[in-house]
Amino acid sequence: MTARIIDGKAFAARVREKVKDHVTRLKEDHGITPGLAVVLVGEDPASQVYVRSKGKQTVEAGMKSVEYKLDADTSEEDLLKVVQQLNDDPEIHGILVQLPLPKHLNEDLVIGSIDPAKDVDGFHISNVGLLGTGQKSMVPCTPLGCLMMLRDHHGSISGMDAVVIGRSNIVGKPMAQLLLGDSCTVTIAHSRTRDLPEVVRRADIVVAAVGRPEMVPGDWIKPGATVIDVGINRLDAPEKGEGKTRLVGDVEYESCAKVAGAITPVPGGVGPMTIACLLANTVTACCRANGLPEPEGLTA
Ligand code: GUN
Repeated sequence: MTARIIDGKAFAARVREKVKDHVTRLKEDHGITPGLAVVLVGEDPASQVYVRSKGKQTVEAGMKSVEYKLDADTSEEDLLKVVQQLNDDPEIHGILVQLPLPKHLNEDLVIGSIDPAKDVDGFHISNVGLLGTGQKSMVPCTPLGCLMMLRDHHGSISGMDAVVIGRSNIVGKPMAQLLLGDSCTVTIAHSRTRDLPEVVRRADIVVAAVGRPEMVPGDWIKPGATVIDVGINRLDAPEKGEGKTRLVGDVEYESCAKVAGAITPVPGGVGPMTIACLLANTVTACCRANGLPEPEGLTA
C-alpha cells in the first residue's frame, strides 16, 4: 500500500480563502474588521520568521495586523501593560504573545493576563478548562489544524483508536481532548510509555508530536492507519552540499508511507495549517465578541 498524501499546503490555502470570505462579509454586512495583535519579545530568529509570516497572512486575509516588537530585556510589568492595552482595545479581537519568552519573564503569568476571549492561541487556563470539559473555547492552532485534516480525510473519526505521541500543553494534550471530543478512543503516549511500538500499532490515527526526528518507523504503523506528523526537525544534509540542512518530521516518512493509508508530509503537512488556524481563530473570536454567528468549518 502507498499512503495518500494529505496536502496541508493546499488545505491551509482553502482555510485562508474561507477566512478571507468571512472577513469580507464581516466588513460589508457589519462594518467590522477582525484585528490580530502579535507580541514578540526579543530577537529569537525562528520567532521573527513566524511573526513576519503571521503578519503577512493576516493582512492578505483582509484583517488588521498589529505587531509589538519589544526588547529582550523588557520588564514583566511593561509586557503586562502592553497585554492590558490590547485587552482593552475594541479593534483587537486576537492576541498572541510569541513563545518562548526570555527567561526572566513568567510565561504562565503573561499568558494568564490575556483576556481569554482574545486568546487565539488557546493557551489560557480558562480555555484549557473549557476545552477539557467540552465547552466552547479558543482551541490551540496546531491541534485544530490536525483535527480539520482528519475530519476532511475521514468524514467522521468517531470510534477510531487514536494515539497521540507527546504530552505538551501546546499540542499533545489539546490534541487528545479534541480527538476525545470527536469520540475517538484516545491514548496519550510519552517518553515513559512502556512498549511504545505496540501502543502505536493499535492506532487507526497516529499523531506524532514529540520533537524527535524520525522517531516513528513504518513497522510501528498499523496498515491503513492515518499518520499526522507534527514534528519539524532540521537535520544536517551533507549529501546536498556543505552546510546544507533538510527538514524531517517525527515519523520516518519513507517507511511509514508504505504502510499507512494516509500521511502528512514534512514540510507541507501540518506546518502551514497552524497560521491558517490562527487566522480562523481570530475570525471566530471577532464573531463571538460581536454576538455574530461563527464561521462554519473553521472551529472545533
Ligand atoms: N511559538 C511557536 N509556536 C507558537 C504558537 O503557536 N503560539 C505562540 N504563542 N508561540 C509559538
